[in-house]
Amino acid sequence: MPMCKCFASIAGYLHCLEKSGDFLMKRICVVGSLNVDFTIILPRFHAPGETISGSDFAVYTGGKGGNQAVALGRLGADVAMAGRIGDDENGSLYRRILRQERVRDDFVSVCDTPTGVALIEVDARTGDNRIALFSGANAQVDAAFIDRLWPALSAYDIFLMQFEIPMPTVLHAAEKIAGLGKTLIVDPAPAQPLPEALRRCAAYITPNETELALITGMPIGDQAQAQAAAQALCAQGARGVVAKLGAAGALLVTPEGAQHVPGFAVRAVDTTAAGDSFNAGFAFALAQGKSPLEATVFANAVGALSTTAMGAQAAMPSLDAALALMARTR
Ligand code: RIB
Repeated sequence: MPMCKCFASIAGYLHCLEKSGDFLMKRICVVGSLNVDFTIILPRFHAPGETISGSDFAVYTGGKGGNQAVALGRLGADVAMAGRIGDDENGSLYRRILRQERVRDDFVSVCDTPTGVALIEVDARTGDNRIALFSGANAQVDAAFIDRLWPALSAYDIFLMQFEIPMPTVLHAAEKIAGLGKTLIVDPAPAQPLPEALRRCAAYITPNETELALITGMPIGDQAQAQAAAQALCAQGARGVVAKLGAAGALLVTPEGAQHVPGFAVRAVDTTAAGDSFNAGFAFALAQGKSPLEATVFANAVGALSTTAMGAQAAMPSLDAALALMARTR
């Protein structure tokens, strides 16, 4: 596998991003979930039937869709969120946060089901998490919701979707997005089978190793196996597969070839939403006209920094912070 040569060109990359005012940045829309996360820090994950005490607890806004939107807002993207919340305090909290983070919330509507909730355990030793999810209002993001918004949504250039809204809705929206020739980035998380139609509609698919194994049915014991699986997936129609490898970075596979893009070393406190932040970084760089390889380098920086504090969204970086990490590692 060829080593990543992209760090040689980071000086130019930084220059271009720093001058981003000169670019006509593409508009990004995230279609997906909005959850409120109840997060507890435990000395270790607990076993069935066992009760153990945590050292910290907090309530954060989260959900894979909302996390991607907030990460994009923090980077300075022109971003809108499309999703649903309940008529409750969690929903109001989320709307406040979206506005605070400069995410357009016109496409977030209230329904009569409670806002989605996630119960998250974080292992204090590793920052790893376990999540139990209640979809709530996210389950009301249906095809009719997409159709109602479509006249406005279709003005966006790049779309991100994940799997915390119903799969029929994801498919419905994906057909519409691809039908207009727009760029669709699909994060197949949480892991579930990837319908054939979605493989055709997605420009980029961004699984982690677990998701890649489930989607392809291939073993992912090491990087070579991950590359083989990503290549098999890419051969089914996507412009690129970006396999997230955690601290090891990412594997970019396009019809032209495969490249390992190393991760950035940080001290991880809570890895919740690292994948969501990665996707946001990837979309942000593409929106600025960067190549998929440059976008993967940038995504690694955004994903890494997002793990350095508790909570899904707390450590999502500004553009300056992401560039500073990349510059330090040059
Ligand atoms: O990807 C992290 C997210 O997954 C959390 O914020 C939680 O809400 C779950 O949806």
